[in-house]
Amino acid sequence: MQNILVTGGAGYIGSHMVLALLDAGLNNITVLDDLSTGVQRAIPTGVNFIEGNVGNVRLISEILTEQNIDTIFHFAGSISVPESIEKPTKYFTNNTNNTTVLARTAAQYGEKYDKDVRFIFSSTAAVYGPSEIPVQETHKLEPASPYGESKLRAEVNLFILAKNHPHFKLGILRYFNVVGADALGRAGLWGKGESLMQFANDVAVGKAEKLKIYGTDYPTPDGTAVRDFIHVNDLVGAHVNLARKMEDVPKGSGEKFLLNVGYGEGHSVRQVAAAYTKALGEDLKTEDAPRRNGDLGSVIADITQLKAKLNWRPAYAGNLEGMVKTGLIWAQKMAKKERPS
Ligand SMILES: NC(=O)c1ccc[n+]([C@@H]2O[C@H](COP(=O)([O-])OP(=O)(O)OC[C@H]3O[C@@H](n4cnc5c(N)ncnc54)[C@H](O)[C@@H]3O)[C@@H](O)[C@H]2O)c1
Repeated sequence: MQNILVTGGAGYIGSHMVLALLDAGLNNITVLDDLSTGVQRAIPTGVNFIEGNVGNVRLISEILTEQNIDTIFHFAGSISVPESIEKPTKYFTNNTNNTTVLARTAAQYGEKYDKDVRFIFSSTAAVYGPSEIPVQETHKLEPASPYGESKLRAEVNLFILAKNHPHFKLGILRYFNVVGADALGRAGLWGKGESLMQFANDVAVGKAEKLKIYGTDYPTPDGTAVRDFIHVNDLVGAHVNLARKMEDVPKGSGEKFLLNVGYGEGHSVRQVAAAYTKALGEDLKTEDAPRRNGDLGSVIADITQLKAKLNWRPAYAGNLEGMVKTGLIWAQKMAKKERPS
């Protein structure tokens, strides 16, 4: 892994990925982002930034050849489940079609120059159907939203490309609930988010009054929904490990990777609220509300495969308060900047 393309590198996870690569001593990085939700200030100085769309074949071909790219981390995409219900076409265009165009261009480039190209795709637990137990990668694929469906269709297209193009080396990571901010305070959530912890951050910094707890009658220990929260630094660390692992795959083996990324343990919404209260040193106000349509009681990753395939040593597993703290410190820093002095 020498010359790296990070799509969506101006966004939340992509910006942490760029930092992880720089921290690992990898300096030949190009970020391609259309700044639709990302921000340019998320990209560290010295990193080559190109503003553009991952669906632009000519632009992609130019970047691949000019930068001699050997590894692509594809984070660019549209990520809001509610928006995907309102505008499904946007999601199939951006997440399915643009991903396929980017990957096909990369596969053709690999073939033309007789060169391996590693392609690591950001997928999601939203591809799975409901499960009472931790979900394995083989669990029934039954997305509940156009967002999940758009990612699943992209996965299918990527597998077809990998099957037919031996130079196209495929890794798919299905993320569970990504939270927190860079442990060194260099990055975090740059824009508005819609996840539980982002809502909790808003309450913590005074932008919202109460954290709504949707559903208190789930069959979980305290009745609130349970999720597998994974810290963003640990998540991008898994990407670095996977890319390195993919370099070691023997030529001609055709091995592809499809892995869940979480910690394999769940925390409830009430536990998250309690972790905020502890981190803040004061009560995080909450309000019970009815279940939301489409929400599941419990979503936890089975990470047997992840542990077997990657030499991954997560820093935040089991440390909900630590995860909450990094996100909170970042949110407090951002809120301070926004306030008129
Ligand atoms: N955040 C999560 O909890 C989570 C969970 C599962 C999967 N994912 C996946 O991880 C990836 C990154 O998510 P995120 O939370 O960092 O989102 P984000 O919105 O912060 O980042 C996405 C980035 O991609 C860019 N982008 C979008 N469409 C583009 C296009 N066509 N061309 C170029 N750039 C484009 C945006 O400007 C943004 O900078 C997404 O693919 C998402 O589906 C995220």
